[in-house]
Amino acid sequence: MIRLGRISYVNMAPVFYRLDAEVDEVQGVPTDLNARLLNGELDLAPISSIEYARHADRLRLLPRLCVSSEGAVDSIQLVARKPLEQVRTVAVTPESATSVVLTKVLLPEAHHVPLGEEADAKLLIGDAALKSAFEDPTPHHDLGRLWLERTGLPMVFAVWACAEPLPPGLLELEAALVESVRTARAEPEQLAYDSSERYGYPAGFLARYFEKLRYRFGPRERAGLLTFLELARDVGELDEVPELRFVARESPSARGNHPALRSCWHPVAYSEDVSEVPVPVELLGEPLVVWRDSAGTAHVFSDLCIHRGTALSLGTVEGDEIVCPYHGWRYAASGACTAIPQLADPTRVPAKARATRHEAVERFGLLWAALEEPRLPLPAVPELESEAWRTVSCGPYEWRCD
Ligand code: FES
Repeated sequence: MIRLGRISYVNMAPVFYRLDAEVDEVQGVPTDLNARLLNGELDLAPISSIEYARHADRLRLLPRLCVSSEGAVDSIQLVARKPLEQVRTVAVTPESATSVVLTKVLLPEAHHVPLGEEADAKLLIGDAALKSAFEDPTPHHDLGRLWLERTGLPMVFAVWACAEPLPPGLLELEAALVESVRTARAEPEQLAYDSSERYGYPAGFLARYFEKLRYRFGPRERAGLLTFLELARDVGELDEVPELRFVARESPSARGNHPALRSCWHPVAYSEDVSEVPVPVELLGEPLVVWRDSAGTAHVFSDLCIHRGTALSLGTVEGDEIVCPYHGWRYAASGACTAIPQLADPTRVPAKARATRHEAVERFGLLWAALEEPRLPLPAVPELESEAWRTVSCGPYEWRCD
């Protein structure tokens, strides 16, 4: 049975709301879960983003889950008795490594002291921060909001990390956690009432709080995480920014979900929706980007820059190349990287620097793709190409068919 960590704060309520999986659940504050995962007491846990980065060589990430906010998050507050630009000392909680580093990124001039000592401001997280907002009239500054103002990106406070060697069943458990979040989103009142009973906050307050939390680990969240790690490195909190390594990319079980379907053709977009603006799509659980070059040819790549894992769908198309928004690596239609701007000679690119390109073909007004070498050509559908028939586009619709 998978030993699954659960942060003991109310922010976990949606993820565990209707979790349909047999797990050995272990509760703790973030720093506690970080330590337990790293010393082998847990198989999977939501851990601080910065702690993940410091131990990324031993960990893998779940590709679909994180804990983030796009703007105010309420549960991470800097309570300051002075205007922020005059804060020189911050008393920091020992419970959250990421929030402490985020404070350093946002207020690099401020010296940190243990919570309880005299300081210009104090950092509170989790339930202590939520309670303080009710009880303490001192000005509160939401770190999620300050981060959005600084970068324009979501702030990823925690990622779901698994220690290597990976136990079986991780992706099935991730699917159950994602399903729990989906159910929680569909039943916001019930979630708020249940959580109110368990954690003791007013249900109306919790309903608004849950709306601010995000659990999807999408392209913007990944860009936000990498930006945070780069800034953490710049203030001396991280030696280097690691490559984000995911369970799905190399786990045999990921492919085991759809072994036959990967070499079949699937429609991934209407042709009319594919343009010189990259668009993210998903096929068999894999994030893809579709784009059209200046000659009008459509392409399908994995939505992942092989430099640091940024989503290429956040980038741009320039001529016949797709360009990563983060450090500007350029990829040709073949997937080959053609330029790395940071090199003395940007065109001296290592041969292994390639984006993952997938087979793609346009027909019947659709863009089709196959994740592996297709075993058969696209089937003929004469009616779709006959002038005697009229094609009516509809959807896409979401079906639960797995
Ligand atoms: S992440 Fe650095 S160029 Fe894409």
